[in-house]
Amino acid sequence: MKTGKFITLEGGEGVGKSTNLQFIQQYLQTQGVDVCLTREPGGTPLAERIRNLLLDHDQESMTPQAELLLVFAARAQHLHHFILPRLRQGQWVLCDRFTDATYAYQGAGRQMDSASIAWLENTVQADLRPDLTVLLDAPVAVGMQRAQKRGELDRFETERSDFFERVRNSYLQQAQAHPQRYRVVDASQPLAAVQAQIALILDTLLQAQ
Ligand code: TMP
Repeated sequence: MKTGKFITLEGGEGVGKSTNLQFIQQYLQTQGVDVCLTREPGGTPLAERIRNLLLDHDQESMTPQAELLLVFAARAQHLHHFILPRLRQGQWVLCDRFTDATYAYQGAGRQMDSASIAWLENTVQADLRPDLTVLLDAPVAVGMQRAQKRGELDRFETERSDFFERVRNSYLQQAQAHPQRYRVVDASQPLAAVQAQIALILDTLLQAQ
């Protein structure tokens, strides 16, 4: 039933996702693609409220299990009310993070069982997977420096660097495991070089249409 393309952008903290999301959206629009931009966790009013629960610091510590279930609760809302209706109408959906982030942050970062994540993935998404995932990869220290310059850190950004090393390694392993949909971009290059590489990736996708 799905007809539009589903593109996700992934990466650790401070790798330049926001800037490059805008670039991807504008690039596709100039090629005549009807594309909308959204994010996870979030993307609907209820999912955005769940996002606040996930990112805010609270006096009560959140268990890894609660965190995992909240991530997928937000995803279920986002899929049902936003992503799937648009894909079915032929619109392309560009999403700032998706389930690969759950394998990276909850699976590798929090060291939760990937079989539980896979079960939730299948239950919530059925067979929906991204058509293209662009991974912005940079050494953890580079990303953390950039994230710290943005101001107050959220609940994830205050994790220790070994957490982010596991996140980064998980993304790189996922890219190796799914070479048909993953494209890895070295995000420590100057922005112009990053965007030139992203443009080539998008050209290939558009030509395959
Ligand atoms: P953002 O800062 O890129 O908007 O993402 C918000 C945070 O949510 C980020 O630190 C990663 C985290 N996250 C997860 O832990 N699991 C997930 O499945 C998703 C989508 C995000």
